[in-house]
Amino acid sequence: MKKPNAPRGPVAAALALIAAAATLSAAQPAITMKSFGTLRDGRAAQLYTLANSSGAKVAITNYGGIVVRIIVPDRDGNLADVALGYDTIGAYEKDGATSGTYFGALIGRYGNRIARGQFTLDGKTCKLATNNDPGGIPCALHGGRVGFDKVLWDAAPLVEKDAAGLRLRYLSKDGEEGYPGNLDVTVTYWLTDRNELRIEYAATTDKATPVNLTNHSYFNLRGEGIGSILDHVLTLNAARYTPVDKGLIPTGEIAPVAGTPFDFTKPRAIGERINDANGQLAFGGGYDHNWIIDRGTARARALVKAAEVYEPVTGRVLEVLTGEPAIQFYCGNFLDGKNAGKSGIAYGKRTGFCLETQHSPDSPNQPSFPSTILRPGERYETATVYRFSAR
Ligand code: BGC
Repeated sequence: MKKPNAPRGPVAAALALIAAAATLSAAQPAITMKSFGTLRDGRAAQLYTLANSSGAKVAITNYGGIVVRIIVPDRDGNLADVALGYDTIGAYEKDGATSGTYFGALIGRYGNRIARGQFTLDGKTCKLATNNDPGGIPCALHGGRVGFDKVLWDAAPLVEKDAAGLRLRYLSKDGEEGYPGNLDVTVTYWLTDRNELRIEYAATTDKATPVNLTNHSYFNLRGEGIGSILDHVLTLNAARYTPVDKGLIPTGEIAPVAGTPFDFTKPRAIGERINDANGQLAFGGGYDHNWIIDRGTARARALVKAAEVYEPVTGRVLEVLTGEPAIQFYCGNFLDGKNAGKSGIAYGKRTGFCLETQHSPDSPNQPSFPSTILRPGERYETATVYRFSAR
């Protein structure tokens, strides 16, 4: 039936134009949710897609808080997914059960390694599960057998004027993976209108415990599945790093990078010196080390620029800003091509890199490193921004 007062002719055309313009300018930050399938134990996982007003998108599942996709423009405005990952929850579960790449995941309670899987806190020795053994030496890696990357988080979508967000919450029980205290963890992801993925971490505890949270996204700024990252150009705002032993545990020394293949204080291609004869590169099978960020006079927890990566073909740039004291640069040396990613292409060696902001590895056993111990009454609070642009 015809509407009685429906405008016709030029009026209708003008109204249609106004409506179309409104739709165009109405591109606002938004978040949508759909099923991401079922875990082996029967629980349902969701996939949340955050979109900003300029068309960038970040997809996150509440399983492991995993960042599944990061879709950002190149210098010509072409969008591509620059995060390594999988299409299905099953593929993530399978990966965690075998090779353990930690694609995109939230890492905790302690990101990176703890020597021999133990530490002494307030006179008491805590024994953790060991789940990794570089050089044949067992250690605890990334929170243990079932770290924060393998748990289902409670999720709440958020929308603000200039950002879409997802708040994740997980209660890590006293004794979980050997760690003391009930740790109440909140991680909030934001995709801002400036094409930034901002990650805010917070935690409280009822017993003293180490806490070192990070995100384990692997980036390939040409696009995931496209190939090697060795031509990406890296700058690290770090004049010092922590050399490791063959078990990839820091020796305790804080060494200058000057004159070594670890000097990225000026932009250098990742692959330029990766095959140099160097004992540290041999231990890591390439770069898999922790740099101490030059924080200058910045207040504790204030965001400072830690890293920048430039991809020459697409012009994409990734800047990393953080309140953390250190950053693990890992260039995917252990990717072995066994796992096919979202585009069906196997992720071979060095086809993605991680820039994991954190405290240095094994801090609970390294008295000279900044403390990672959170005590009752204190609040763990830290943030990291991955900012995408192109030039
Ligand atoms: C570590 C690597 C490890 C990888 C697991 C990185 O954070 O530095 O040594 O193999 O995580 O995928």
